[in-house]
Amino acid sequence: MNIILLGPPGAGKGTQARHLVETRGMVQLSTGDMLREAKSSGTKLGQKVAAIMDTGKLVTDEIVIGLIEEKLTSESGAGFIFDGFPRTLAQADALAALLAKLGQSLHTVVEMRVDDDALVKRITGRFTCGDCGEVYHDDINPTAKAGICDKCGGTEMTRRGDDNEVSLRTRLMEYYKKTSPLIGYYYAKGDLRPVNGLADITEVQKSIEAILG
Ligand code: AP5
Repeated sequence: MNIILLGPPGAGKGTQARHLVETRGMVQLSTGDMLREAKSSGTKLGQKVAAIMDTGKLVTDEIVIGLIEEKLTSESGAGFIFDGFPRTLAQADALAALLAKLGQSLHTVVEMRVDDDALVKRITGRFTCGDCGEVYHDDINPTAKAGICDKCGGTEMTRRGDDNEVSLRTRLMEYYKKTSPLIGYYYAKGDLRPVNGLADITEVQKSIEAILG
């Protein structure tokens, strides 16, 4: 089963994707994570994407489609979770073509609906375990013991360079201009299933489980 988690920055896509990886053995394909990996590798690609990502603008379709194509042919599991991809109509068309080439299809597009005020709060309070990638929030979802990851015991907590109010404004603008047209695109195809992303994390998990069956 291949699914897309569609929603603005901070909607909870990564949080829900990790849950589905743990409970269903699905494979999370996060273009944001792939780009951050490239960024920290210091390669030519990394240098190219670093400046773009920090401002909150979208990286070119060509780069992200190439990254996804590579993963689709090298990873396997109980289906793919596309997290943060596609983000433009060109990426959506490319994904459909790539899946068709592999004899696969899309099962569902889960649209995570969250209002802008909640997004600002979520993004500005987010921190991540540098060892295992578990995501937390200063107020909503803190670690049980300050500075220690609940999941792996790691103590290296990091904050993203683009998790500030200025970059977030650009990220939201990019979302509304370039990504939100995908809501109509997948609705017309009959693939779209909205969930209330404002509910607490376990409630959102339950809504998604109910949709996936
Ligand atoms: P990316 O890494 O994809 O970031 P994003 O879409 O902005 O999404 P986030 O990772 O910020 O949020 P999320 O929805 O995963 O929320 P999370 O679960 O962490 O992209 C970064 C950049 O890379 C882009 O700006 C662009 O430059 C580039 N890029 C990536 N993909 C691209 C593409 N396809 N094309 C072009 N460029 C691309 O949750 C957020 C916080 O809220 C956490 O603290 C969490 O604990 C908390 N939280 C989660 N759920 C809930 C809940 N239900 N209630 C309360 N709090 C919650």
